[in-house]
Amino acid sequence: MTVGKFITFEGIDGAGKSTHIAFVADLLHARGKTVITTREPGGTALGEKLRELLLHEKMHLETEALLMFAARREHLAQVIEPALARGDWVISDRFTDATFAYQGGGRKLPLSKLAALEQWVHPHLQPDATLLFDVPLKVARARLQASRSPDKFEQEKADFFAATRAGYLRRAAEFPKRFHVIDSAQPIDNVHKALEKIVASL
Ligand code: TYD
Repeated sequence: MTVGKFITFEGIDGAGKSTHIAFVADLLHARGKTVITTREPGGTALGEKLRELLLHEKMHLETEALLMFAARREHLAQVIEPALARGDWVISDRFTDATFAYQGGGRKLPLSKLAALEQWVHPHLQPDATLLFDVPLKVARARLQASRSPDKFEQEKADFFAATRAGYLRRAAEFPKRFHVIDSAQPIDNVHKALEKIVASL
C-alpha cells in the first residue's frame, strides 16, 4: 500500500515559493505519485470565499486568525485528510506555519492563542515536510514590486515582513526535522538541486 505524504510550501511574499511548487509536483509525478496541489487560505469553495475576505477586507486581527483556521478546518475535512487517506500526496501552498509567521510574527498575536487553535483544528496532523523558501527582505521586496495589484498583506511595510520572516525562522528552529530551509536567493538550478534531494529523502 502506498502512503500519502503532506508537504507544505512556505515563505514571505516575494520569496518565490509558487514557482517551485510545479517543479516538486513534477518530480513526484515522475516517481509515479498521485499529487494534489492546493493552497491556503483557500483550497475549497468556502475557503476561496474566505480567502477573498482575508486578502481584501479590513478586520480585527483575531478575526483574521480565526478565519484562517476556519478555512483550514474546511480544507482539512474536504481535501487534505481524504487525499492522505487515499494514499495521495498533498502539496499545500501555505498551511499553519503561515499563521504563526504572519498573524503571530508579523501582526504579533500571542503565539499561545495560535497554538490553542492549532490544537483544536489539527491536533494529530502536521506536514511530513515543510519547505521554507527564505530570502533577504530586499530580494522579496524587489520581486513584489513587479507584481500587479497587491493584496492586503503585500501592501504591508518592510518591518511587517521582517517580523514575518523571523516568525518562520523561529518555527523552523522549533521543528528542525520537519522544516527544510531553502535559500531562495540562490540561482534557480541550485534551488532545483536542493528540492531534488529533499524529494528523494521523502
Ligand atoms: P499567497 O500565498 O502569497 O498567494 P499569492 O501568491 O497568490 O499572492 O497569498 C496569501 C496571503 O495570505 C499571503 O500574504 C500570506 C497570507 N496568509 C496569512 O497571513 N496567514 C495564513 O495562515 C495564510 C495561510 C496566509
